[in-house]
Amino acid sequence: MSVNHIIRTRRTRMTPALREFVREHHLQPGDMIAPLFVVEGEGVRNPIGSMPGQAQLSIDTLLIEIAELQAVGVPGVLLFGIPAVKDAEATGAWDENGIVQRAVSAIKDRFPDVLVITDVCACEYTDHGHCGILVDGEVDNDATLPLLARTAVSHARAGADIVAPSDMMDGRVRVIREALDAAGYITTPILSYAAKYASAFYGPFREAAESTPAFGDRRSHQMDPGNIREAMREIEIDVQEGADMIMVKPALPYLDVIRAARERFDLPLSAYNVSGEYAMVKAAAERGWIDEQRVTMETLLSMKRAGAERIFTYHAKEVATWLQR
Ligand code: PBG
Repeated sequence: MSVNHIIRTRRTRMTPALREFVREHHLQPGDMIAPLFVVEGEGVRNPIGSMPGQAQLSIDTLLIEIAELQAVGVPGVLLFGIPAVKDAEATGAWDENGIVQRAVSAIKDRFPDVLVITDVCACEYTDHGHCGILVDGEVDNDATLPLLARTAVSHARAGADIVAPSDMMDGRVRVIREALDAAGYITTPILSYAAKYASAFYGPFREAAESTPAFGDRRSHQMDPGNIREAMREIEIDVQEGADMIMVKPALPYLDVIRAARERFDLPLSAYNVSGEYAMVKAAAERGWIDEQRVTMETLLSMKRAGAERIFTYHAKEVATWLQR
């Protein structure tokens, strides 16, 4: 049977109230986690050239930033540390008195309710900029695992609410879980950067974190952009190894991966709206070529629609401020 009149989908779009009534997905301040870069020193706010609005912060200015994030309803932060001294073994990564460890305890002292997530990786702490221990010029998987486990435990000891390994070494979720449990941190969850691609969209981050590899690239551990079934396999393995939450990274060029992950796995799922995605929007907005606010909100909404529950994004403070109005 067919209808003999025009089917009018426009009826539900005629007023703001109707559009709100039928809206399927919303973006809220609580959906976003703000990544922050912490450096040694006092009163430091080093702007990051390729990420307008973002800066390397010392612990005191970091606390000011977090107070502002709290005020607009952003519930948490992801911390990256840039140590004063780097070495081949990334000793700064697990140092009890390291930059991230001190930042975590300072945040927890002042803002016990802020969700503090730490990035677990060696690349900001090695003088060669690679994600682990090098053997014959190549990142050695198994030699890197104890370093990651030790780093994660030091973050938990400092008070981190969640540890988030981003290195893409095989077996790291398992060794981190074992090490956390052995140290008594049985309730500290692991958010695994389970499907992380070898992406050119990390370019600005490497300026921010001073972590560009001195030679070579990360393609022997991060994923090939052409693959989606392999992403499902990476996630499956991390879930088996004990990941409590999973992430897809980058976000915008991998919305199909987010959707596939959402349909296949029931764990909390995050997307990482990475530095290059942020830089593209900022650059076009600076030239007046796009409407920054609308493009930003539309971009983040696409990630929620794809199936991500939470979004790690440098836009967090701005978007939360816009949403308050
Ligand atoms: C590794 C790490 C990277 C990012 C997050 N964690 C860089 C890399 O893999 O080279 C990139 C985040 C971004 O681009 O915003 N510690």
